Amino acid sequence: MHRAFLSNLLLSYGLLFLQNTLPVVSWSTFIVSHTAGQDDTPALTAAIANYSSNSTILFQEGVTYNIFTPIKFPTLTNVEILIEGNLTYPTNITAIQDIVTSSSYSGAWFDFTGGTNVTLQGSTDPNWGWIDGHGQAWWNINQQTNRPHGWAFSHITNGVIRDLKLWKPIGWNFATSGSNNVHIYNNIILAVSDNSSAFPFNTYVLNAFELHFPSESMHDLASFLFSIFSTVMGTFSAGGSNLLFENNHVENGDDCITVGSGAINITVKNSYCANGHGLSIGSLGEGGAVADVENVLFENIVMANCLYGARFKSWTGGNGVARNITWKNIAFYNVPFPIYVTQNYWDQEDGPKPNSTTLNNTHIEDFLFENFVGTVRDVPYVEGSCVTDPCWYAVTNATGKEVIILDLYPNTTSNILAKDIFAKTETGARVSAMCDPTTISNDVGFVCQDGPFIPTKAGL
Ligand SMILES: *[C@@H]1O[C@H](CO)[C@@H](O)[C@H](O)[C@H]1NC(C)=O
Ligand SMILES: *[C@@H]1O[C@H](CO)[C@@H](O)[C@H](O)[C@H]1NC(C)=O
Ligand SMILES: *[C@@H]1O[C@H](CO)[C@@H](O)[C@H](O)[C@H]1NC(C)=O
Ligand SMILES: *[C@@H]1O[C@H](CO)[C@@H](O)[C@H](O)[C@H]1NC(C)=O
Ligand SMILES: *[C@@H]1O[C@H](CO)[C@@H](O)[C@H](O)[C@H]1NC(C)=O
Ligand SMILES: *[C@@H]1O[C@H](CO)[C@@H](O)[C@H](O)[C@H]1NC(C)=O
Ligand SMILES: *[C@@H]1O[C@H](CO)[C@@H](O)[C@H](O)[C@H]1NC(C)=O
Ligand SMILES: *[C@@H]1O[C@H](CO)[C@@H](O)[C@H](O)[C@H]1NC(C)=O
Ligand SMILES: *[C@@H]1O[C@H](CO)[C@@H](O)[C@H](O)[C@H]1NC(C)=O
Ligand SMILES: *[C@@H]1O[C@H](CO)[C@@H](O)[C@H](O)[C@H]1NC(C)=O
Ligand SMILES: *[C@@H]1O[C@H](CO)[C@@H](O)[C@H](O)[C@H]1NC(C)=O
Ligand SMILES: *[C@@H]1O[C@H](CO)[C@@H](O)[C@H](O)[C@H]1NC(C)=O
Repeated sequence: MHRAFLSNLLLSYGLLFLQNTLPVVSWSTFIVSHTAGQDDTPALTAAIANYSSNSTILFQEGVTYNIFTPIKFPTLTNVEILIEGNLTYPTNITAIQDIVTSSSYSGAWFDFTGGTNVTLQGSTDPNWGWIDGHGQAWWNINQQTNRPHGWAFSHITNGVIRDLKLWKPIGWNFATSGSNNVHIYNNIILAVSDNSSAFPFNTYVLNAFELHFPSESMHDLASFLFSIFSTVMGTFSAGGSNLLFENNHVENGDDCITVGSGAINITVKNSYCANGHGLSIGSLGEGGAVADVENVLFENIVMANCLYGARFKSWTGGNGVARNITWKNIAFYNVPFPIYVTQNYWDQEDGPKPNSTTLNNTHIEDFLFENFVGTVRDVPYVEGSCVTDPCWYAVTNATGKEVIILDLYPNTTSNILAKDIFAKTETGARVSAMCDPTTISNDVGFVCQDGPFIPTKAGL
C-alpha cells in the first residue's frame, strides 16, 4: 500500500513536472492472490513474468498462501519478494513426492535462478511470514524418499535473504550456489520435532545451558533423533562468493551451514546453531574432484547440542585446496566433536572405507581455530543419524574426550593452528586430542598426539 502510494506519487510528480528532464522510474507492486483451498502457484507464475524487474511481489499479511506446487521465478532485476503472509506446502506427502520425481521439477520448491539485486524478505511479525513445510509428518514416518529441497537462490548477483522463517522444513533449506554478494541475515529455521515418543531433546531455549536427558529409552531417543537428523538436511548450503551470513537462528538436524566447493569470501557470524552437524566445510573432493574453498570466516557462534562444532571434511583422494579458513569465538555446549578435521571422509552407508589408490588429497592451508569455549559431550549416547554399527561419525581409537581431532594425510597440510581452546568434559575427565605428528608441519597449538590436550606456545 505504502509503496504503491509512493510510486504513484512519484509517477504523478514525474509526469507533472519532470517529464522531459528525468526518466520516470516506475515501480510495480504485485500482490499475490489467494484462492481458498486452491494452489496459489499457477496464478503467481502467470503474473510474475510481468514483475520481473523494478517490482515488489507481495505475499500479504493476513493470508495463508497455498504453495501446493513449486514456484520457479524468472530472472529478476531489482525485485523484492516480501513474504508477510504465511506460506504452506502441501500436507500430502505423496503429492510432493510425485512432483519431486516429475521431469518438470527444477530441484527446489522455491527456485530463484539468475538475476541482479534480488531481495527475499520475510516478516518480523511473530505470527506471520512463516513458511510451513509440515515436516513433522515426514519425520514421524522416517520418510526420506523424494524429499523436496527448499530454497534455491542461485546465480544471483547482489541479493538479500532476510527475516525468513521456516517452520518444520522437510529437507535441505537454502542453497546459494553461484551467487555473488548476498547478505543472509535474521533468518529463523525451526526444524524441531514435537513427537512426544522421544521428547525433550529440542525443547531447550537459547539460554538453557544445562543438561537435558530424556527419560525415555535410548532407543526412542535414537529413533526420534534419526527422524530429525535424517530429514532436515544442511540448512544453509553456501556456494558462491562474497556471502555474509549473520544473526541466523538454526535448529535442525544436519550441518548448520555447509560451505561447498567453489566458495570464496564467506563470512558466517553472530548466529546460533542447535542440534545439527556443525559449521562445515565440505565435503570436498569426492571421487577425486578438484575442490577449492577460500577465505571463510566463522565468528561469534553458539553451537548447542550439535554433533560437531567446527568441521572440515574432504574425501580421500580429492584434489584442490581449502585455504584461509577461520573459526573464531565459538561457544559450544554439549558437543562431542568441538573441532573435527578429516581428509578421510566417506559415506559409511555406501560400505566400508574405500582403499585410496592415490596419494592426492584436498590440501589444507591456513586453518585457524581460535577462542573455543565449552563442554565436550563425553557421556555415552547415540546420535540420531546413526543407523550403522559403528556409527558413521565413530572415530577409531577416539576416547570421546577429544576437543580436537586432526585426521590428516602427510604432506597435504600447512599452517593449522588451534589457539585459546578452553574446554572441559561433562564427566570431568581430562580433555584430550587426536593428532598424528607425521601429518603436520608446524606447531598446531597443542601437543600433536593421541592423548591429553596440552596447549603449546603457539596455542596460548
Ligand atoms: C502482462 O503484461 C501485458 C502487457 O501489459 C498484459 O497484456 C498481460 O495481460 C499481463 N499478464 C498478466 C498475467 O498480468
Ligand atoms: C528499472 O529501473 C531502473 C532505474 O532504477 C531503470 O534504469 C531501468 O530501465 C528499469 N528497468 C525496466 C525494465 O523498467
Ligand atoms: C535494488 O532493489 C531494491 C528493491 O529491492 C530497490 O529499492 C533498489 O533501488 C534496487 N537497486 C538498484 C541499484 O537498482
Ligand atoms: C495425495 O496425493 C496423491 C497424489 O497426488 C493423491 O493420489 C491422493 O489422493 C492425495 N491424498 C489426499 C488425502 O488428498
Ligand atoms: C503462520 O504459520 C505459523 C507456522 O505454521 C503458525 O504458527 C502461525 O500461527 C500462523 N499464523 C497465523 C496467523 O495463522
Ligand atoms: C514419532 O516418531 C516415531 C519414530 O519415527 C514413530 O514411530 C511414531 O509413530 C511417531 N509418533 C507420532 C505421533 O507420529
Ligand atoms: C574476495 O575478497 C577479496 C578481498 O576482499 C577480493 O579482492 C576478491 O576479489 C574477492 N573474490 C571474489 C571472487 O569475489
Ligand atoms: C583470509 O580470509 C579473510 C576473510 O575471512 C580475509 O579478510 C583475508 O583477506 C584473507 N586473507 C588472505 C591472505 O587471503
Ligand atoms: C581395502 O583393502 C583391505 C586390505 O587389502 C581389504 O581387506 C578391504 O576389503 C579393502 N576395502 C575395500 C573397500 O575395497
Ligand atoms: C593428483 O594430483 C596431480 C597434481 O595436481 C594431478 O595431476 C593428478 O591428476 C591427480 N591424480 C588424481 C588421481 O586425482
Ligand atoms: C588404534 O590403536 C591401536 C592400538 O594403539 C593401533 O594399533 C591402531 O593402529 C590404531 N588405529 C588407528 C586407525 O589409529
Ligand atoms: C612428507 O612428510 C614427511 C614428514 O612429514 C617428510 O619426511 C617427507 O619428506 C615428505 N614427503 C614429501 C614428498 O614432501
